[in-house]
Amino acid sequence: MKILVIGSGAREHSIIWKLNQDKNISKIICIGENKGISEICETIDFKYKNINDLKDKILVLNPDLVVVGPEAPLCEGITNLLEENNILVFGPTKEAAKIESSKTFSKELMLQNNIPTANARFFHSFEDAKKYSLKKGFKNIVIKADGLAGGKGVFLPESEIDMINTLNSLLIEKKLGKSGVNILIEDKIYGPEVSIFTFTDGTTISEPIAVCDYKRVYNNNEGPNTGGMGCYTPPEFWNEELKQIILKDIIYPTLNSMKKLGTPFKGMLYTGIMITNDGPKVIEYNCRFGDPECELIMPMLDGNLSEIFLGISKSNFNNNLVKWKNKKGVSVVICSEGYPEDYKKGFEIIGLENINKNTICFHAGTKELDGKLVTNGGRVIVLSNLDESIKLSRANIYEEINKVKFLGSFYRTDIALKAEEK
Ligand code: AMP
Ligand code: GLY
Repeated sequence: MKILVIGSGAREHSIIWKLNQDKNISKIICIGENKGISEICETIDFKYKNINDLKDKILVLNPDLVVVGPEAPLCEGITNLLEENNILVFGPTKEAAKIESSKTFSKELMLQNNIPTANARFFHSFEDAKKYSLKKGFKNIVIKADGLAGGKGVFLPESEIDMINTLNSLLIEKKLGKSGVNILIEDKIYGPEVSIFTFTDGTTISEPIAVCDYKRVYNNNEGPNTGGMGCYTPPEFWNEELKQIILKDIIYPTLNSMKKLGTPFKGMLYTGIMITNDGPKVIEYNCRFGDPECELIMPMLDGNLSEIFLGISKSNFNNNLVKWKNKKGVSVVICSEGYPEDYKKGFEIIGLENINKNTICFHAGTKELDGKLVTNGGRVIVLSNLDESIKLSRANIYEEINKVKFLGSFYRTDIALKAEEK
């Protein structure tokens, strides 16, 4: 079987690392590259202007199966275009990917199908949004841009002025362009957060895996939001009862309501949930693996990944193929100074060869330049470790992490700290 993977981050590196363990694969090609990926498969550095170019390129390569890492090509409809050309794809259609690409769509889906979530109102007009948010009070709301915003579309106002400025920048200045011209003003809810990952073909789901991530750039959840600075599994509050409630009240109703709309969701359903005093409530859906969550999910997966992908792409998923190791795990992201805002690229990275073999090193923004490994992004390297406890897993990572060196490197030192003693 020839598999083609789309994407160039640590998420895709971890997927290819796992696929490489399968016996039934003859070739893996990745459209997108970093140094880690190019060490383990053939890579193509193909920049596409539109989704049709990407489709044409893939048709020439003629793979048996395509695995899509990032949300953008899914939301633009790469699955639709490839399936029309009889190519199997792991990843939802454009219509099903709306669960991530439109917060208005996903909120309506939840409200109409009694899937627990924070109440919300939709706005297009600045004046209406201002009036409503002033009545609610800045402390009680969350402002969300409707469309994709690369993790930058959710605002928790810190003052009344901040709230009005946010509304102004979205609805008047249109700072997020099309993504922000429609907004949601959502009630603020409280409680620990967990991300639930389930493989699904739209009907059958795998055993879920629960992961907690860290979005803020600095320790103690300070600084701006990022794509993710680290994560761990399982959460200290995770148990069978909570899992069953989430499956019954959230995951199954979500998939059933997508099916009812005629747009079944197949791929990796990533549901962000807050455990409130009134029970679990959905904060957001994503239509793909999380990053860095995937770098933990792949090592945790006990099963033949290509068979899982293939079954789902044919809507014929045998969920017995998905087993999770009886381990605990931690991932920590090493970033380049300035991330998530401006950062420089091209700093030499040394020390990866000294990392203990039990800790897996996934590449995010890296490349080879004049025979040297250099930084090529804001998130640079992700270290993942599994062990018998979170405490051991954390210790393994933080013992190794200083071996990776480049100018301006930094990472959070508190990933999974709160779960360590459980
Ligand atoms: P999102 O990009 O939708 O995951 O939102 C980013 C972060 O904003 C989440 O991880 C939550 O911490 C926070 N958030 C989103 N929606 C709410 C809400 N309704 N109430 C409280 N916090 C929220
Ligand atoms: N780690 C968050 C995300 O992938 O969206």
